[in-house]
Amino acid sequence: MDKIPWWRTSFGEPELANIREAVLNERISQGSVTKQFEDQFARSLGVPYGVAATSGSASILMALMALRIGTGDEVIVPNRTWIATAHAVLMTGAKVVLADVCPDRPVLDVENLEAKITDRTRAVIAVHLNGRATDMVSLALLAEKHGFLVIEDACQALYSRTAEGYLGTLSTVGCFSLAVTKLVSTGQGGMVVTKDPQVYEQLALVRNHGVTDIFTDSWSQMGFNFKFTDLLASFGLAQLQRVPGRLKHMQTIYQHYLAAMRDFAFLTPVPIDVNDGEVPLYAEFFCPDRARLVDFLASKNIQTRPVPPSLEISHYIESDGHFPNSKRFADQAMYLPCGPEQPLENVDRVIETLKTF
Ligand SMILES: Cc1ncc(COP(=O)(O)O)c(C=O)c1O
Repeated sequence: MDKIPWWRTSFGEPELANIREAVLNERISQGSVTKQFEDQFARSLGVPYGVAATSGSASILMALMALRIGTGDEVIVPNRTWIATAHAVLMTGAKVVLADVCPDRPVLDVENLEAKITDRTRAVIAVHLNGRATDMVSLALLAEKHGFLVIEDACQALYSRTAEGYLGTLSTVGCFSLAVTKLVSTGQGGMVVTKDPQVYEQLALVRNHGVTDIFTDSWSQMGFNFKFTDLLASFGLAQLQRVPGRLKHMQTIYQHYLAAMRDFAFLTPVPIDVNDGEVPLYAEFFCPDRARLVDFLASKNIQTRPVPPSLEISHYIESDGHFPNSKRFADQAMYLPCGPEQPLENVDRVIETLKTF
C-alpha cells in the first residue's frame, strides 16, 4: 500500500503559469509582484499593510527589530510553540521569558501571565498554535496596564479567527509562515501584517538594511536582507486562489477524524473552537500511548508526527522549569495525516487502521 504522508499540499499549473509570466516579465527579485502579493494577502485579512519576508522566523525577527526590541529587554514567549519564536527573540539580544500555556489549550495562559511581567517586559508574543486563538482581549488589557507591546505569531493560524477578527490582525503586528506545511506556501516565506503606518515603514526599512534611498543605497538604521522575491510572490498569488477550497477541505478532514474518534478510547482531540472560526491546520490529537501508536501506524505505511517539544528543554533559555500545563501537550499530542490536499480516502484508511490498534 502507498505510504500516507503526515502532510499533503499541492501546487501545479496555476503556480507554473504565474512563475512563467514572472520570468518572461523579468520579475525575479523583489518588486511589483511582491507588492501585489503583499497587498492581496493583507487585504484578505482586512488590514492595510503586508510585508513579505524570507520565512516565518524572519518575519518574527523583523517585527521585533521594527519595534526596536533588543538587549536589556524581556519578551514573554509561550512554552508551547515552535522554537523559531524564541530564536527570533534571542537574535535581537533580548531575553526570552517562558510562560506556561492554558490547562486545556496549548496557547499562552493570559490569566496567569502577570507573574512573568517585570519592568523590563517590552513585548509578549501570542502564539496562536495550530489555529487556536490566544485570549487577545485580556492580553490587550494587560498590555495597557503594564505598557508592553503585543506581537502575534500566527505562523500556524492563517485565516483562523475569533469574534474580534483574523488572528494576526489583533495586535501591533502579526507574523505568518509560508513554509510547505502551512495553508499557503511559497516553499519558504513569511509575511508580517500591521495596521500601523509607522510600523509598516519600519518593517520595510528593516527588511532591506535600513535603506531609505535605493539609488544611492544610503541607509538610516540597522536592518538586514529579509527581502522576498517576485518569483515566490507569483507562486504565492496562485496559492491564495486555492484558499477557500483548502479551508473547506481541512475542516472536512478534521470532522471526519472527530466523528471516528468517538470509537477510540486511546485518542482524544486537542480542543479547538472550529465552530467559532478557528482553523485546525493540523489534525491534532492526544494519545497517552503516542510512541507505540506512531510506530504502529508507521508499520502500516502511515506517517504521523508527534508535536515538537516544549521550549523549556533548550539549555540556553533560562527558566524555573515549572510548566505543568505544557506537559500533556508535549508528551501526548500528535498530528494524524492531514493537509490541504490530503485525500479523504487516506483519512479513511488511517481511521480503518486505527481500529486495529
Ligand atoms: C508557531 C511557529 N512560529 C514560527 C515558525 C517559523 O516559520 P518558518 O518555518 O517559516 O520560519 C513556525 C514554523 O513552523 C511556527 O510553527
